Amino acid sequence: MENEIITALPGTRDLLPEEISLWHLVEEATRKTFACYGFHEIRTPLLEAAELFARGIGGETDIVGKEMYTFMDQSGRLVSLRPEATASVVRACIQHSMHRGGEVTRLYYIGPMFRHEKKQKGRWRQFYQIGAEALGSDHPAVEAEVIEMILFFLESLGVRSRLVINSVGDGLCRPGYVLLLRESLQQHRAGLCPDCQRRADTNPLRVLDCKVESCQPIIAGLPKISDHLCEDCHRHFADVQDLLQEAGIPFAIEPRLVRGLDYYVKTAFEILSGDLGAQNALVGGGRYDGLAETLGGPRIPGFGFAMGLDRLVMILPEEIRARARRPPDLVLAHMGEAALRKALALARELRHLGYSCHLDLRGGSLKSQMRQANRLAASHVLIIGEDELARGRFLIKRMADSTQREVTREELFAYMHAERVTHEPDTGAA
Ligand code: HAM
Repeated sequence: MENEIITALPGTRDLLPEEISLWHLVEEATRKTFACYGFHEIRTPLLEAAELFARGIGGETDIVGKEMYTFMDQSGRLVSLRPEATASVVRACIQHSMHRGGEVTRLYYIGPMFRHEKKQKGRWRQFYQIGAEALGSDHPAVEAEVIEMILFFLESLGVRSRLVINSVGDGLCRPGYVLLLRESLQQHRAGLCPDCQRRADTNPLRVLDCKVESCQPIIAGLPKISDHLCEDCHRHFADVQDLLQEAGIPFAIEPRLVRGLDYYVKTAFEILSGDLGAQNALVGGGRYDGLAETLGGPRIPGFGFAMGLDRLVMILPEEIRARARRPPDLVLAHMGEAALRKALALARELRHLGYSCHLDLRGGSLKSQMRQANRLAASHVLIIGEDELARGRFLIKRMADSTQREVTREELFAYMHAERVTHEPDTGAA
């Protein structure tokens, strides 16, 4: 037992170098697109007071009730690994009075979240989100602008998706609807799955997005929230739809979309991708005008979203994957100790000019070094043997067409520069 190999915990994983270049590409595209929409990055702690999420997300939700990693720290404080970041961002906004600028505060984040969920494809216990929150305005234009940004971002990455929206009402109209729902659920109680029987008492709205087959006919017959919105919520929802249409954004209204967090009022939305399989929600978000007050702050209306970064990476098309591969510009193949030293010196100069260089420091045969250059998909190989050293001329081979030529040190720099200008890849993902 003592010497058994220790592996990563279930639901967590290592992101290895082959995959991470894709993550970098997505993160760069995020920064670029989100900056165009005036969003600035915020990094909040991964560890927060457990109460922040209990109050913010709601004690009856699955996230808080079943999925949070919560423990007592050494000072006797109950803390949680963050299961999401909206509550943290709103806490930070209140704590640092960021809402006082008189403008909409636009913040985004990229980072890990933790939920002890059942393991399945597309679902991890440590997963990553790209999210953004616009704080300080209850105008429906916020919804339109933020959703436009997400779709623009996804389009830049060649991802096909589908937007579904709903209104979940507010403190004025939702309680009446929940009462109606509860009554209706009581009539069908016997036909509901055990989870929904419990939800019918604790959180009836959650019945609406149950995926169990036997519940579907009952759910189809339940009253729809859109028929019970107050005037303010109704107008807001109509305005959001108008603005989306004006921006040329297609959407479908999904009356059963309620989302699993209690802070939402009015607009709720998801962006789905058919390429994801069962866990098809790529993005989830909505409006949370009362959250700041729930957390002890002033009224700060807000709207935002989070996107599953793990899920996004899973469905990136091949052309984006190809763009993320960054093979070395040059492999310096060397034979003998003196050639290795020359290779090190040349690589040093080239690296300082921004070229990525690779040397096999185990000093294998020329054949094995060429094989490695192929494996790395290097653009060029420079061959430095004793003969080349003596003459001060090296053989450079372009791997794409196997053409080779002899170059001096100076000619090598000129050659690499010319190649870079001709073949510079388009690194701008967005
Ligand atoms: P959420 O719907 O809980 O919303 O999560 C948003 C997205 O995170 C999901 O659509 C999914 O892509 C990804 N996600 C969630 N759980 C997992 C998991 N276990 N494994 C992999 N990916 C996962 C929120 O978190 C809200 N804070 C969104 C928000 C921001 N609302 C307003 N502002």
